[in-house]
Amino acid sequence: MSIFNATNIECKDYTIYFDQWDQLSRSINEDNYSKTICIVDDNTQNHCLPILEQKLNQQLNVIIIKSGEKYKTIDTCTKIWKEMMLLGADRHSLVITLGGGVVGDMGGFCAATYMRGISFIHVPTTLLSQVDSSVGGKLGVDLNGYKNMIGLILNPNAVYIFPEFIKSLPNRELFSGFGEMIKHALISDKNLWSQINAINPLTHADWKEDIYKSVYVKYKITEEDPLELSIRKKLNFGHTVGHAIESENLKNEFPLLHGEAIAIGIICESHISYQKELLSLEALEEITQMILDLYDRHPESILDINNIISNTKHDKKNKGGITRCTLLNDIGSAVIDQKITENEIKLSLQYYKNV
Ligand SMILES: NC(=O)c1ccc[n+]([C@@H]2O[C@H](COP(=O)([O-])OP(=O)(O)OC[C@H]3O[C@@H](n4cnc5c(N)ncnc54)[C@H](O)[C@@H]3O)[C@@H](O)[C@H]2O)c1
Repeated sequence: MSIFNATNIECKDYTIYFDQWDQLSRSINEDNYSKTICIVDDNTQNHCLPILEQKLNQQLNVIIIKSGEKYKTIDTCTKIWKEMMLLGADRHSLVITLGGGVVGDMGGFCAATYMRGISFIHVPTTLLSQVDSSVGGKLGVDLNGYKNMIGLILNPNAVYIFPEFIKSLPNRELFSGFGEMIKHALISDKNLWSQINAINPLTHADWKEDIYKSVYVKYKITEEDPLELSIRKKLNFGHTVGHAIESENLKNEFPLLHGEAIAIGIICESHISYQKELLSLEALEEITQMILDLYDRHPESILDINNIISNTKHDKKNKGGITRCTLLNDIGSAVIDQKITENEIKLSLQYYKNV
């Protein structure tokens, strides 16, 4: 066990707490909320809600949604809003999102829009949501199979990270979250990349320090540019092609997970960086090898290259119909607003398929 002691991260308008059950309990019980409502999905209802209720020593009002990206829709929001009304939520109520990025993005969106906005806190329970989605205020849902088309940027009242929650995560979900940790290292810090490179998620026992360092990358960037006008775009590395692949795969019976699609997106966008002579062949091969060593190959996920290219046209980073992307100019360094062509995307997808 490491003796790493994570201090809380004080953002401008909220705090990210690490392992602070007492603080969470005080906040719920002493902040005079008229009602506390916890949004869970069917997995976090089983694995995480009992832990939360036991630690808080109280039963919560609970809204349960079905798990999975395909339920991250406005229809599920309508169900949540109606249940909030039935439970008597008013403008002084508190919503706790207890779950991964889907529960956090959608539950936060519901709270942020219910009665023009009520208080909410995130208690992220997946590796992905702990290192990434719970921080930075992006909330929302998918539309017509396109990712995060409806939403807003609004910070929660607080984020409470308890690394113990990830113990019950299935391996695929662990790897999915690890994809975002790889991204955080690649866009920000060569040393962090070396540390991440040394982790085998299957045998890694103590995640606390790694989660803290990864959250710190996200915190620094989102604090400097909360509205994604400049450097926050660095966090989109791997996501232009990654989201396009994820959207294409949502049609399948067993779709890729978000972080799995992003891992492929990282390889493809590293290849585009190489095509543009921003990144060396050596760095491209190092990144590709690291990801292929850890992740199952999914060449079937890019059967229809034209559809994937077409999906990139719906990317929110585009401007005036031109696809824009964040690329790497070294391991640990990203450049934003790079125009990329259909042919560059095509070549990168072929590279992933054939490598
Ligand atoms: N807001 C942002 O800045 C941001 C950033 C990155 C990703 N995202 C979004 O996050 C979503 C992906 O998040 P995710 O990977 O957490 O997905 P998820 O919320 O679907 O969770 C993954 C799976 O793990 C289960 N689960 C959650 N916690 C568990 C636990 N402790 N034990 C066992 N099972 C558990 C869930 O029920 C689900 O089946 C995507 O919708 C993506 O767009 C948002």
